[in-house]
Parts: sequence; C-alpha cells; structure tokens
Amino acid sequence: MKPRHPAPPIEPIARRAGAVGSAPTPPGAFPGVRLRRVRSTRWSRRLVAEHRLTVDDLIWPLFVVEGANKRVPVASMPGVERLSVDNIVAAAEQAVALGIPAIALFPNTEPKLRSDDGREAFNPENLVCRATRAVKEAGLDIGIVLDVALDPYTTHGHDGLMRGSEIANDETIEVLVRQSLVQAEAGADILAPSDMMDGRVGAIRTALEENGYASTLIMAYAAKYASAFYGPFRDAVGSSVTLASSPIKRDKRSYQMDPANSDEALREVALDLAEGADLIMVKPGMAYLDIVRRVAETFRVPTFAYQVSGEYAMLQAAAEAGWLDGDAVMMESLLAFKRAGASGILTYFAPRAAALLNEA
Ligand code: PBG
Repeated sequence: MKPRHPAPPIEPIARRAGAVGSAPTPPGAFPGVRLRRVRSTRWSRRLVAEHRLTVDDLIWPLFVVEGANKRVPVASMPGVERLSVDNIVAAAEQAVALGIPAIALFPNTEPKLRSDDGREAFNPENLVCRATRAVKEAGLDIGIVLDVALDPYTTHGHDGLMRGSEIANDETIEVLVRQSLVQAEAGADILAPSDMMDGRVGAIRTALEENGYASTLIMAYAAKYASAFYGPFRDAVGSSVTLASSPIKRDKRSYQMDPANSDEALREVALDLAEGADLIMVKPGMAYLDIVRRVAETFRVPTFAYQVSGEYAMLQAAAEAGWLDGDAVMMESLLAFKRAGASGILTYFAPRAAALLNEA
C-alpha cells in the first residue's frame, strides 16, 4: 500500500456547530487515527461489521388467488405474482429450501365474495384458510402469518365495517375476532392485526385464550401509517378498486396513523404489548426507520418492519430501467432495517435476498 500523507488538521467534532454528545477522538488530533484502516480489506470489514442480514430475518409475503396452477402477475409489482393454493404450497417449499422462516398470506378475494359486512373474512373455507391448511398438510416447517383486517373482503375496501361515513371500531372488532379464530383453526402460527382499530389486540388475545389457541402468536401492526406506499398491494388484493368506490371515505386516515407523528407510535406499541401482542410491526419501512429505531430501543421487544409494496415497486422499477443496481439496493435497504434495530423484515424481495445470502 502507498504511504499516506498525514491527515490535514480538522476542527475537533465536539466544537463544530450542532455536534451533540461525547465526541470520539477527533480525527487528526492524534497522528495515525484512521478509520479507513479497518475498511481496507474484505476480511476486516467482515470482522468489524456491527449488523448482519441473514435469511433468518426474512418473512415473505405472498398473494393467494382462486383456481389451480395459476400465476397472475401484479402489474404494479414486477416479478410478483398472485398464486393459486397449489402454487402457494410450491412457494412455501421454495421458502423452506431457501431457509426463510415464515411466509405471510394475503387473499385476492373474488368480487362476488366481497360484501359490506366482509363476512368472507370468517369463512373457514376462504382462500387464506385453505392455503394455510394446504401448507400445513404438506408438512412444511415454516411459520404462517395471516393478516387480520377486512379490506380484502369488503365491497368498500376498508379494513373495518362502515356505519354511514364512519368506520365502526367496536363492531369491527367482533368480526376481527371471528376472523382470528377461523385463521387460528386453519393453522396460522401468527395473527397479524393490520386494521388499526382500538382495542383489537386485547379482544383477539382473549378469544384465543378462551378457545384453545393460547400458543398462537400475535404480531401487531402497531404503528401502521396511512401511507401512499400501499398502492401496489391494493392492486394485488383488489382493494384499490373497492376503496375507490367507497362511499365518502377513500383513504384510511381515520384509523391508520398520521405520517407526521412519532410519539404516537410509542403509545400504539405500548397498548398493543399491554393487550398481549408478542411481536410488533412498523409499517411502511424505509421512510419510517426512525420509528423502527425508537420502538426497538424503547421496548426491547421483537420489532419487525414491513418493506411494503410501494417500496418494492420503486426499487424494482428503477432497477428494470437500468437506473439502479437492483440486487445492491435490495441488500442495502434490507441491511438498513437491521441497523435501525429490526428483528426481521417482511419483504417481497425475500426469495431473491435469501438466494444471494445463501450464495455468499
Ligand atoms: C391491509 C393491509 C395493507 C397492507 C398490509 N395489510 C394495505 C392497507 O392498509 O391498505 C400493505 C402491504 C403492502 O403495501 O405491501 N390491512
């Protein structure tokens, strides 16, 4: 290696405007302090890495569609397809082979099965229940996460029941509880309430306890923001159309969180934990890493982040246009979740990331 010139003197960090906390030894204050030394070889970078992404961190969200041997592309999510139940089992087998610990299933419910009261949500024969049973019957050692919310089942695309122009909190909870019980019965390992009604985690936890499902986990979408990044997901499950036709309310701001808020996320998480949530989720991901960090540091509980459909679409579109290196930004974005303090990440990139991690 070439001899280096001595580093130019720089003003110590602590004296620079805006610097906070105790400063490390200021570079240049002592000859030979060089942070670049440990960065110079691959082995030393590996040795000092503070965070690491592994396949153990990944949850793969999948969309289920009616039929047999079907794969239906999602236009706004290039590379993602809705799969019929048989193909869900095949995807679960692929996930097991890649070492992915869990999958999350979301239904694209047929329009004729959607209703104002969303009753298909608690039909034990609905798409996600059938897919869950099929994966369990295949004897696969993989966790199954099911969303608890009504949006794939309602004619208006909302996560709850509408009473006039309002989303009715407590009536919705009764339906969510019934939905939770059929999902637990079908074999779901983790129920993930994503509806943002007040008090639903406690109601679901109580019902699980009383009905013999004490070991079913709850991953609460505790801090779920009213985000425009969910657009492609709504295409995938078919709720973009239904939500657009919703009387009066076409957005979810009366129940999902305001992106302006951060302290409120901590209150949401505290409540969901008190009500019996085992795992916490923050959603969306990349634009909300500050929330992931605060939640993980404040509560020291397993905290998951959802790299949502719009984030996937954004990276994928730029990669397909040749504007970004797709694999590189995928891995960098996933590592950022770990650095922020996430225990794991729900990501549509899961199989691709797992394949790269297994190669390395
Ligand atoms: C439904 C639900 C949504 C997502 C997960 N569950 C959409 C929404 O709240 O409208 C979004 C996931 C994604 O965008 O990838 N309650």
